[in-house]
Amino acid sequence: MVETAPREEATDRMVSAALGAARALRDEDRLEEAVAALEPALSRLSPKREPFLHNLVLNEIEISRKKTVLFSKPRQLGLTLTHRCNIRCKMCFYPTDPWDMPEERVEEIYSLLPTLESVFWQGGEAFVSKHFKGLFREAVRNPYLQNTIVTNGLLIDDEWAEIIVSSGSAVVNSIDGGTKETYEEIRRWGRWEALVAGLDALNRARDRHAGAPGRSSRFDLIFQMTVMKENCHELREAVEFARRHRFTAVNFLPIQNIFGPENIFHHKDREALDKIREALPAVKEACSRYGLRLHVQLPLFDDPAMPAQGPQKTNPSPEGESAPSAASSSSKPMRVGPSEGAASSVAAGQRRVNRDSSCYWPWLGLFTLLRGATKPYGWCCENVEYDLAKHSLIEVWNNPMMQRYRELVGFHQNVDFCDARCTSGVMPKNQLGRNLGRL
Ligand SMILES: C[S@@+](CC[C@H](N)C(=O)[O-])C[C@H]1O[C@@H](n2cnc3c(N)ncnc32)[C@H](O)[C@@H]1O
Ligand code: SF4
Repeated sequence: MVETAPREEATDRMVSAALGAARALRDEDRLEEAVAALEPALSRLSPKREPFLHNLVLNEIEISRKKTVLFSKPRQLGLTLTHRCNIRCKMCFYPTDPWDMPEERVEEIYSLLPTLESVFWQGGEAFVSKHFKGLFREAVRNPYLQNTIVTNGLLIDDEWAEIIVSSGSAVVNSIDGGTKETYEEIRRWGRWEALVAGLDALNRARDRHAGAPGRSSRFDLIFQMTVMKENCHELREAVEFARRHRFTAVNFLPIQNIFGPENIFHHKDREALDKIREALPAVKEACSRYGLRLHVQLPLFDDPAMPAQGPQKTNPSPEGESAPSAASSSSKPMRVGPSEGAASSVAAGQRRVNRDSSCYWPWLGLFTLLRGATKPYGWCCENVEYDLAKHSLIEVWNNPMMQRYRELVGFHQNVDFCDARCTSGVMPKNQLGRNLGRL
């Protein structure tokens, strides 16, 4: 059982009411009134006694004021702890060099945990990082923090399962096949039996906590498949596997960044795409019957809301649902000029986006990607920092590029470092970082 710091219900209720009022006002662009709704709550919170709530309310005030330099700390982190991995998936474009999160950054992550509301842990393979267990054990002491681990699941033993389930964390288990043969063909070095052993450990822990009060009821187990030529005929088997092993959701996401014949979306492989289209009704029906949430983000129908393949400004999310991508296809340094006024920096003819499709990610957090490259969120198309060995996360948080993101996004301008789905207005609000959180 994990130890957590206590929560004070009355204080939670007070903050929740202030946040609800402020967010509704902000949605109507009544920004000063939103600030006024939050300030009394802030004055009643102590950064020492209630670090999480204090930072949360301060951050919401800074969003409402469209501040570009923030005194609040990040609320969310996406952490690529290492490039190392215990297996070699055939479609994985992650480098196999032994990069690890620099030691100084690991220390800094520890110091940020008390004010965080969500962390996406991944790699490489997070479980291979020597820092992961210590960090995760500390993370689950923050009762407000939602942890999500994106993993191949092969290193989950009973001890890990207990920590994960009792803390109500989420596991996105990447399984690129519905059968042993396909799985082992794609997830090279991965053994089907080891995958099942990890799932059994999670389900044993789940049974131990069944009916108990506390956070374990929030435990979430998501089956994720990167769909490609070799596995596109196994969607139905994948759903059956998910049912047998008590998953709560199934994500089908497209292969990206690899442009060989396995990328059926890039090549518009008619036979393969037809196979998927034909399978989808049965997949949907089965998921609904089994009570599995289904998330299909495959570019099958030339839908502009769907992720494009090839050199376009869309950055599909391997983690699905509300999770961002660490598999950025367009990681290049963002162009930052001198900080002109936001209005003057929009190129002629560039589309503006409406208020409802502007996002809050640049105010909410940081996502570290390959070799420590960092972005506000996994879908953002431009990195803001490359070298976490030289810069702290807090330096990156307010560096000129983050300020630039906030300046342009805060004025609802469709900047060319934004993902096409975000700026097209099709993204639901919670996917734009708005109305987040359980408070
Ligand atoms: C790079 S992995 C890192 C986390 C962990 N090792 C895992 O496999 O889940 C994160 C996600 O990216 C997916 N992925 C790997 N290569 C991909 C590709 N070429 N296109 C799309 N997703 C990919 C994986 O299947 C996994 O769901
Ligand atoms: S997809 Fe994940 S498990 Fe597979 S090689 Fe890449 S990092 Fe490792």
